[in-house]
This record gives sequence, structure tokens and C-alpha cells, in this order.
Amino acid sequence: MRYLTFALAKGRLAKQTLGLLEQVGITCEEMKDPDTRKLLFVNEELKVKFFLAKASDVPTYVEYGAADIGVVGRDTILEEGRNLYEVLDLNLGKCRMCVCGPASARERLQRNEIIRVATKYPNIAKDYFQNQKNQTVEIVKLNGSVELAPIVGLSEVIVDIVETGTTLRENGLEVIEEICDLSARIVVNQVSLKMEHTRIRKLLQDLNGLITGTGDKEGRNA
Ligand code: PRP
Repeated sequence: MRYLTFALAKGRLAKQTLGLLEQVGITCEEMKDPDTRKLLFVNEELKVKFFLAKASDVPTYVEYGAADIGVVGRDTILEEGRNLYEVLDLNLGKCRMCVCGPASARERLQRNEIIRVATKYPNIAKDYFQNQKNQTVEIVKLNGSVELAPIVGLSEVIVDIVETGTTLRENGLEVIEEICDLSARIVVNQVSLKMEHTRIRKLLQDLNGLITGTGDKEGRNA
């Protein structure tokens, strides 16, 4: 049996994903050591490997087949636009991709004025304004704390993730338009899905059973 390799987006999502995988019988003791500097973890018995990567790199590892399976947010999947199969919604990390700004920006957007949009997600923003809204905007790429941009006059609006809405509220900004819903997804390499169809399908069925509550205690489907 060949190894099935998982690429997980570093951080809270990886911890939650490992919790889900454990419930369907896929464990990796090596990974639980908080002091480890190892990058690749193996469960020889189950023939699975795990590694943690920066979220935006997970789709790349999966497209090239360095990982068979990836777990990453839909925001990253949309932004990276890689060739892979998105196969399961894990219902974790639910949030929304939105156009946000001060209340005054709402009218400027509606009047179709050429405005600046600051974002960590230039591809999502470009697709939304150009293809879905047919509106010309100037997109400015930032790498974090995007809410700052309209406050200091870099842009009129932002395209960013809204989870609780606290960051917007505390900075005098609001949701102006909703682009799409987001959550963590399982993605699979296109060749792996064919070559390892039985193992991957079983894993997806078990996880789906766990998420929807239709599996048994070990996450197995009836
Ligand atoms: C994300 C996002 C918003 C914030 C939204 O930022 O970019 O800033 O969370 O969450 P809320 O609606 O619950 O306030 P993150 O913490 O990832 O940091 P960043 O802004 O530096 O990217």
C-alpha cells in the first residue's frame, strides 16, 4: 500500500482537522508533540503522512501531487485557482467574503465610480468586480490588517473575510456587499482521486458521516 499524504493549513484549522480525523480512526501520535521541529509526520501502520504548510501553499502541494489530500479554507482555494477537486465541506471556520467599508462608500459603489479596493485576495476581488458585477475598480494588494486601508485613505473599500464582524465594528466599517460563504474544505489531487479511489472515498464517507451525524461512534457510515 502506498502512503496517502495530507497537507494541512497551519494553525487552528489543522488542530480541528486532526480532531476530526482522529474520530474517524486516522491518528498521528508524532504530531502531538508540541516541541517537535519535524515537518513531516508518518503513521506507518495506517500508511499515512501529514505535513503542515502555509494555507496559500496547500493547493499548490495538492495540485502537483506532493500531497494527495489538502485541508484549507475556501478563500484560499478560490484565490489560488489551482487544478484540484474540492470534495467535502468540513463546516469548520465558517465565515463570509465581503466588500466592506465606511457607510459613505456604499453610495460611491452604487454610482459605479472607479474606486480603490484593498485586499489580501486580489483574484477573488477581480473576479467579483470584473466578471460578476462588470464594474471597473483599482485593486491594491495588501498582506494583512486590511481594515486599515479605508481608515487611513488608501482605499475606499476592502474585500476581506468577516467572521464575527468585530474588527469591522471596532473600526467604523460595515459589510456593503457579500461575495460568498467560506469554510474549510477537503481538496484532492486529480490523479490521486483515481489511483486511490477506494481509500479516499472511504475517508470522505466517514468524515461526511461524522459531520452530518449519520455515521456510527467511530465515524463509520452504516
Ligand atoms: C481576519 C480577517 C479580518 C478578521 C475578521 O484577519 O482578515 O481582519 O479576521 O474577523 P472578525 O469578523 O471576527 O473580526 P486575521 O485575524 O486572519 O488577520 P489579518 O487581518 O492580519 O489577515
